[in-house]
Amino acid sequence: MDVSAQIGVVGLAVMGRNLARNLARHGYTVAVANRTPERTEAFIGDFGHEGAFVAAAGAQEMVAALERPRRLVVMVQAGQATDDVIAEYSRLLEPGDVIVDGGNAHFADTRRREAALRDAGIHFLGTGISGGEQGALKGPSIMPGGSPHAYRLLAPVLNDIAAIAPDGTPAVAHLGPDGAGHFVKMVHNGIEYADMQLIAEAYHLLRNSTDYEPRRIADVFRRWSEGRLNSYLIETTAEILAHRDAHTGLPFIDVLADAAEQKGTGRWTVQTALDLGVPVSAIAEAVFARSASAHTALREAASVLPGPARTILDERDAERLVAQVEQALYASKLVAYAQGFHQIQAASQVYGWNVNPAAVADVWRAGCIIRASFLDRVRDSFTAHPNLPGLLAHPSFARELGAAQLPWRLVVSHAARDGVPVPAMAAALAHYDTLRAPRLPAALTQAQRDFFGAHTYRRNDRPGTFHTRWDLDRSEELRG
Ligand code: ATR
Repeated sequence: MDVSAQIGVVGLAVMGRNLARNLARHGYTVAVANRTPERTEAFIGDFGHEGAFVAAAGAQEMVAALERPRRLVVMVQAGQATDDVIAEYSRLLEPGDVIVDGGNAHFADTRRREAALRDAGIHFLGTGISGGEQGALKGPSIMPGGSPHAYRLLAPVLNDIAAIAPDGTPAVAHLGPDGAGHFVKMVHNGIEYADMQLIAEAYHLLRNSTDYEPRRIADVFRRWSEGRLNSYLIETTAEILAHRDAHTGLPFIDVLADAAEQKGTGRWTVQTALDLGVPVSAIAEAVFARSASAHTALREAASVLPGPARTILDERDAERLVAQVEQALYASKLVAYAQGFHQIQAASQVYGWNVNPAAVADVWRAGCIIRASFLDRVRDSFTAHPNLPGLLAHPSFARELGAAQLPWRLVVSHAARDGVPVPAMAAALAHYDTLRAPRLPAALTQAQRDFFGAHTYRRNDRPGTFHTRWDLDRSEELRG
């Protein structure tokens, strides 16, 4: 086989197929391969006319087809499949070649793979790709992690195929070494869970407390999408709520089972946050809300539990609630993003990644599911205040939160009074109040820990570590 392809794609399921097509549409000659060769044949049959493809029957043909240094994009299932494919290809590749893993790998796997391949002189770029099927084809948001050299080998290609932000810049940036890219992608998904849950809570409260039909709530979301909440998820929500079921003629939302599913990246975000000791409560509540919804037997059994009588607001109060919910949704969303960025910054410190949060916001502005206008401001804020910890305290966001806090409280208390669950919004508000509180009850927690477990405490008035002999009412400073 002639050496003729500039890049290879292994794995031609939905994402791999569309990424290969995206590459070809940008003028690259793309070698393609798949474990099951019928899929490769079908791909060439369906899309071969779209660009220059080289069908490879297996790993050997693929490696023989690629220009050096070889650039191979692996688009197979995360986990064992990715390990299998890397093992198969790394035996055939040479030092200097680069493997890009564009799947949804766990960042710890990416760190392990990068280290193993580095020993063999093969570069590895663990790359988060967001935007779903259409994004892969028309321009995704791309989050690569790996050595600067590996990134340089891929940068021109990634710049070509990435989504383009409204200001003309591609949604791709080198986020750091080894697992940094997949970590950022994981947190992106965690934030996505929170964003979706917060929107769902806003909808649910309006539906419960007003006589608005889904179509009217769709109009509310459409209006919101013209303001600071402008985002892909708000726009799609408006479309969904306006949609009628072709079969029954009912609002589409009313014919769907209310049990949510998940693939696992939200769960990873929360598991990792627990390990890092970073509070991502709004994201965690979003993950738990999906789990809770799916426990249908538990819900059925609990349906006997009493709640308040449903009260429907009159037209004027309903309009007031809509305005308050917009504030609550925006403020809660800010908290969810701030928690996600905190997690990224904490991991960056632990793993020595040096991730630039402004670059993360930049990459999320286009192509991905959480793309939103306000990410411009997040990026600018991190650029203007690189050393200010916590996004919420950044001046322009602090101002907005100040304006939103009262309606936010009214919405959460309204929901509690009416018996409408808003776990993510309530968690976001509690996080806001936790961070701004001059004093927390953590002092009591520490006293309790010292009382029953001699776990010691620190004092405000003196440095050092102390323990109280509670039986003798005597406090002592511990040394060493
Ligand atoms: P997507 O989400 O894009 O639809 P995926 O489920 O993440 O796809 O991955 C499916 C791809 O992984 C397929 O190309 C599949 O190959 P087959 O078409 O032969 O099933 C590939 N894949 C899964 N396990 C694999 C393995 N152990 N070795 C090689 N390829 C594998």
